[in-house]
Amino acid sequence: MTPPTPEQIKAGVAGVFDRAAATYDQVGVDFFRPIGRFLVGRTDPRPGERVLDVGCGRGASAIPAAEAVGPTGSVVATDLAPAMVEEVRRAAHDLPWLRAEVGDAEQPPGEVFDIVQAGLVLFFLPSLDTALARYRGMLSEQGRLGFTWFGEPDARWEPVFDALTADLPQDERPQTRPSGQGPFASPSAMQDHLTAQGWRDVTTETLVHEVRVRDADHWFEWTWSQGYRFVLEKLEARDQLGPARERVRRLLDEMARDGGLAWRAEVHATIARP
Ligand SMILES: C[S@@+](CC[C@H](N)C(=O)[O-])C[C@H]1O[C@@H](n2cnc3c(N)ncnc32)[C@H](O)[C@@H]1O
Repeated sequence: MTPPTPEQIKAGVAGVFDRAAATYDQVGVDFFRPIGRFLVGRTDPRPGERVLDVGCGRGASAIPAAEAVGPTGSVVATDLAPAMVEEVRRAAHDLPWLRAEVGDAEQPPGEVFDIVQAGLVLFFLPSLDTALARYRGMLSEQGRLGFTWFGEPDARWEPVFDALTADLPQDERPQTRPSGQGPFASPSAMQDHLTAQGWRDVTTETLVHEVRVRDADHWFEWTWSQGYRFVLEKLEARDQLGPARERVRRLLDEMARDGGLAWRAEVHATIARP
């Protein structure tokens, strides 16, 4: 099978998030907002600063950044998924210094920014290094890049993801753990990667956030509402969703008997200066 082109990858990702946008972060699971605030706590926007927030989703980090920079500052929030951009515009109607537009994180606008931030998005990019080089070129002297990304997955949930994807061919199952290669393998790999490209003062902090869902139905509702939706769509297209759902439900019912359904998300925030 020919591998997809970068454009096909981006169109696929944008489609999934466009379809997820209406329920993204709206199903009673506290996830993207606390992680967005964690990122903004690290990029630390000051009144009057200019912020670019790429892959903004519904604004988990763009909106707190706009609140922090205030009316003398500005935030440009971009996302490939038009429905996400619409949601940010709606949510930020009282923050007119936030401009939300459809845009590719690999093709940032040709402006100068004090902060470029990317919440849980850089791992989607076909060319991370192209994006990083562009961000470096557009940051002011005091500028900083900040981005969040996933660390080690919660091993207790591996059987759930295995049960969900059991009918998919091996090469179509999403990876549940970092490959051990490349910049997203570990904070030190990320730090070395950025330092080798000329970034300085590279630091990473880690947030461990516990995600809680009520029961199996709530877990499915949450999964449809975010990026992992692409697996459910794939199963649905193959007519495999029903049996997968039953396998997962049995496991989740058992897990819930041991004290509710909690998932431990490890999220790194890396900050660097150009
Ligand atoms: C996991 S969501 C994170 C959204 C938001 N930053 C947050 O923290 O809630 C990833 C977002 O990145 C967007 N995205 C993925 N690839 C992108 C690209 N090349 N350019 C712009 N946005 C992209 C998706 O459409 C999606 O909204």
